Amino acid sequence: MTILNKMGPVATDEIFDLNREFFNDTYPEKASLGVGVFRTNEGKPWPLPVVREAEQRLFDEQSLSRHEYTAIEGDMAFVRLARDVLFNFHGKEDSDAQKAEKERIASVQTVAGTGANHLGAIFLAHNMKPSKVWLSDPSWANHDTIWDQAGVPRAKYPYYNPATRLFDFEGMMAVLENEGQEGDVILLHASAHNPTGLDPTKEQWKVIADLCERKRIFPFFDSAYQGFASGSLEEDSWAVRYFFNEKPHLEMCVAQSFSKNFGLYGQRVGAFHYVLSNSEKQLNRTVVDNLCHLIRGEFSMGPSGGCSIVKKVLTDENLTAQWHENMREMASRIQSMRRALYDELVRLGTPGTWEHIVQQNGMFSYTGLTSEQVQALKEKYHVYLLKSGRASISGLSTNNVAYVAKAFDDVVRNVN
Ligand code: LMR
Repeated sequence: MTILNKMGPVATDEIFDLNREFFNDTYPEKASLGVGVFRTNEGKPWPLPVVREAEQRLFDEQSLSRHEYTAIEGDMAFVRLARDVLFNFHGKEDSDAQKAEKERIASVQTVAGTGANHLGAIFLAHNMKPSKVWLSDPSWANHDTIWDQAGVPRAKYPYYNPATRLFDFEGMMAVLENEGQEGDVILLHASAHNPTGLDPTKEQWKVIADLCERKRIFPFFDSAYQGFASGSLEEDSWAVRYFFNEKPHLEMCVAQSFSKNFGLYGQRVGAFHYVLSNSEKQLNRTVVDNLCHLIRGEFSMGPSGGCSIVKKVLTDENLTAQWHENMREMASRIQSMRRALYDELVRLGTPGTWEHIVQQNGMFSYTGLTSEQVQALKEKYHVYLLKSGRASISGLSTNNVAYVAKAFDDVVRNVN
């Protein structure tokens, strides 16, 4: 009889369960449209060429301190570069105005985007005690897990309208207007919403920012796809910068991941940024100290391997330019695969409308397939996607897109 008498069964993670199933599947034409990772047209991982170059330089340098402890807040040179990428400070002269802007941001290194989300959630749970956090319906399933573990009650705001397959802006606004309260947190996806691939327009972001300001709802951005979604760092962080620049009285925070845009998934590279209002920026050090207190009690400091690669790239103009090129390449392969899948479905005359596949943004498409159709895709065709119908477009290639489209066509016609 175990002493763990409080332990019950717990749901396992769908994304990583699916990954394992796919790995163990020996069917030659299997296709993984599950986990959000970039793949080449040959279905292979793609260590970015710029990352290989940076690794080589780091290896050649043989720095004596490369495996030393960093500070609890992480490698501060990396943290500052991460902040500059996110808020678009990078490469600019530090004017007095810009220095003042930077003073509003308290930043630390984290264990990638998940770690940044988690650190932010427990930091707010300790120091703000939000009455609830609003998550989009649907959202990345891990947001639920993270906020559940932080002990903050969760509520859902409408996001996706299955009838139109579009972003339900009116529904979102109506619920937040009626039920959002001062002291609530709202989780917002900075770009390339996971799982729907649907983002607010710039005009809609402005309305969301006004609502947060007026109702004193605290915005918590999850930025996992900056530069990966559109190929442009500026474009994919527009909403974060709008809130930051246009709402100087609003406090907010951002969980930043470098997993996708650097292809450094297993290296766990990320940062957390807490933005103070203009009038409270003298609290910056206290915020960092409190974050460090939480970090020290959990993992002491973020890992240094991946962040030294990012630092190497971001401190060299040529490497930075190469990185931008690599991001554009990833974004454009995904965009072309969206188009290829759409074209195939249209060619096959697959019942339904499929424009949403080309209209959605980023790594994923919310296909509209039912969980029964998803199950049939796996059983009959060895094509793996999440039961919500989310497909990771990067699992498509010129070699398998016809096969996958044919499989979609069959289940749409024959399975409800
Ligand atoms: C995904 O949503 O598939 C990725 O962000 C991987 C993950 O950590 O869930």
